[in-house]
Amino acid sequence: MTKPLYIGAIDIGSNKIKGMIAKKQRDSSQIEVLSLREVPSFGVRKGIIVDKDKVCQKVLELKNLLIEENQKELKEVFVNIGGYHIFVKQTSGAIAISRADQKVSQEDIERVIEASRSLTLPFNKEVLEVVPKEFIIDGERGIKNPLNLKGIKLEVESLAICAFSPYVKNLIDAILCADLEIAEIIPSPIAASIAVLTPQQKELGVALVDIGAGSTSIAVFEEGGLIHLAILPVGSSHISNDIAIALQTEIEIAEKIKLKFGEYIFKKSRRKEKIEIKPNQFFTFSLAKMANAGKARVSEILGLIKKELKKIGKLKSLPAGVVLTGGGSNLKGIVDFAKKETGLPTKKVSPKGFINLQPDPSLSVLCGLILKGFEEESEEKGSKFFEKIKKVFRVFLP
Ligand SMILES: Nc1ncnc2c1ncn2[C@@H]1O[C@H](COP(=O)(O)OP(=O)(O)OP(=O)(O)O)[C@@H](O)[C@H]1O
Ligand SMILES: [Mg+2]
Repeated sequence: MTKPLYIGAIDIGSNKIKGMIAKKQRDSSQIEVLSLREVPSFGVRKGIIVDKDKVCQKVLELKNLLIEENQKELKEVFVNIGGYHIFVKQTSGAIAISRADQKVSQEDIERVIEASRSLTLPFNKEVLEVVPKEFIIDGERGIKNPLNLKGIKLEVESLAICAFSPYVKNLIDAILCADLEIAEIIPSPIAASIAVLTPQQKELGVALVDIGAGSTSIAVFEEGGLIHLAILPVGSSHISNDIAIALQTEIEIAEKIKLKFGEYIFKKSRRKEKIEIKPNQFFTFSLAKMANAGKARVSEILGLIKKELKKIGKLKSLPAGVVLTGGGSNLKGIVDFAKKETGLPTKKVSPKGFINLQPDPSLSVLCGLILKGFEEESEEKGSKFFEKIKKVFRVFLP
């Protein structure tokens, strides 16, 4: 029997930093969770690492918990990057097909994608990843897989996912400082999409929406490929903040109210309710006041999602609709409300394909990072050139 593969991943969120070590047999599709832990997040605002030292401390704490549970070393991790500094740009590349028989090789494909990486950006912005949208051979457009097709010139139109370099550096520093190497940095919505979307949904047209605590990420797919990505600086913690203001109470109490009575955000009720804040100490509040504050914020988030879909002309044409995930999608009633507000079919999903894992939409990014890790580790290494390109995307110790 061949040796199993092990992957470690860390999801740096605004509310929690989550980690997982997972195991997979090379000939199996099932993934076993060896350890899964989370620590409260500090130094992360709206998905962005603003204090790398605080994040480093938390990552170190998390790493020790993961190792303790699993008794296995953790040297290298797949990690996400979030925050509204992330943006996409259309880009293109062109090369001459290299083989004498004029057939496009895997090497040509990697070369043209790499060519589409070079685009003009301000000095403090960088490309994280380029995702090919369509290939063009001698002017013939709409080619999804050009391998072995004949021609002279190969072009690609790609979507470049870019980020503000100082925030990327903060992430790298925070992980390295916890004595971990980075296998790869993956934008949060890309990671989440790997864990929850099916190839059929991506083919039909779908918008993945990850409602986190401090941010909401969107990734839109069509004909199997990514067509848009955006990260909004609002999430479920803003719902709690607004409830706190409306009810004139502390954030912690408002958070408890949201978790317990959140469904009333979408229901009409004139009732008063109470919640225990300390043993035998209660806070009484009006459900209608809570609902007004909560609903306005949920509507704002959904409005921003609609705006993103409108920007790319997809508000009316996404047959597979909206797929909600992230901790914020746990809010009872949000699926039906989103359906009404967006006019699109909507459902809530949790990651699949992991044995011994309870369904939990807040684990989508973490599970996506693990899945991406296994995909890369078990990939049959075709050409040496392909290997080298992969390494370019990988971030190693300085
Ligand atoms: N049952 C629930 N009802 C309402 N909100 C919930 C529920 N469960 C979790 N949440 C909210 O989900 C949020 C946490 O989600 P998640 O773990 O996906 O965030 P994160 O990854 O830390 O943040 P981000 O991705 O924005 O950086 C919290 O704001 C929490 O209040
Ligand atoms: Mg998150």
